[in-house]
Amino acid sequence: MKPNSKVLIIAGSDSSGGAGIQADIKTVTALGSYAMSTITAVTTQNTTGVKSIVGIDPKEIFKQIIYTCKDIKPDAIKIGMLHSPKVIKSVLRALNLIKIKKIILDPVMVAKGGAKLIDTSAIKLLKLKLIKKVSLITPNIPEAEILTTTKILDKEDMIYAANKLLGLGAKNVLIKGGHLSHKNVKDIFINKKDIKIFESRRHKTQNTHGTGCTLSSAITTFMSCGKPVKRSCELGIKYVNSAIKSNPKYGKGHGPINHLISLKVNTKFK
Ligand SMILES: Nc1ncnc2c1ncn2[C@@H]1O[C@H](COP(=O)(O)OP(=O)(O)OP(=O)(O)O)[C@@H](O)[C@H]1O
Ligand SMILES: [Mg+2]
Repeated sequence: MKPNSKVLIIAGSDSSGGAGIQADIKTVTALGSYAMSTITAVTTQNTTGVKSIVGIDPKEIFKQIIYTCKDIKPDAIKIGMLHSPKVIKSVLRALNLIKIKKIILDPVMVAKGGAKLIDTSAIKLLKLKLIKKVSLITPNIPEAEILTTTKILDKEDMIYAANKLLGLGAKNVLIKGGHLSHKNVKDIFINKKDIKIFESRRHKTQNTHGTGCTLSSAITTFMSCGKPVKRSCELGIKYVNSAIKSNPKYGKGHGPINHLISLKVNTKFK
């Protein structure tokens, strides 16, 4: 097969391969599209925790976006970890120049192990400038709490926070419910005209490293192929759910999920 579309990912590297740009590239590829990357930071981590984070020079981030897109124009862009105000400003400047409409923002702030990944002034700028610029924002519960200064304990709190994010200028919001401990997982999609609660089976496993990165990349891939935003969320959630269910049980901590769940290897290569 040939790739169905082209996706640019702007995100941090995860040396363990389960989250970050590695998870993004695997997802876009496993769903049949062509992945390009702009690396914003290099993290040293494994499934038990984050050891260190080194940010890439914002000028270099700007250059990666512009130079890559000048040659191969992406159909959609996924943005993950942007750790500082300077990085956010660089990315905004580049996005204004390349004029791609479909942009999905996963506002990564805290790693699964609890480590804070971005500073307070970056959160402020993200709220003020970046949220308005993108087509969809996909915070998890702790991120939605930080962005809205509310406490989220149940579905009603999720809806309240999602509406607050619309108030900040977001066009579409998907709040992910992985962090609540109810029997089923609920992800809530909302925009000014529509609300949809996606309910899925919660799998009992600690191997959920990279679920958020994978979901936002899957949604971006579906949108890059022309699917509407709500339908893209629905398909992305299904893909992540199957990938969690079939996780390969790697590592001693929060292990990766199975990005290959969507693939069948051609017999020619077996
Ligand atoms: N145990 C689970 N079983 C089934 N689905 C899950 C489980 N945990 C998370 N999900 C799903 O995974 C997707 C990502 O949600 P989650 O809340 O884990 O994001 P996240 O915290 O941003 O992840 P990450 O740790 O990668 O940043 C959502 O669709 C959520 O419903
Ligand atoms: Mg996340």
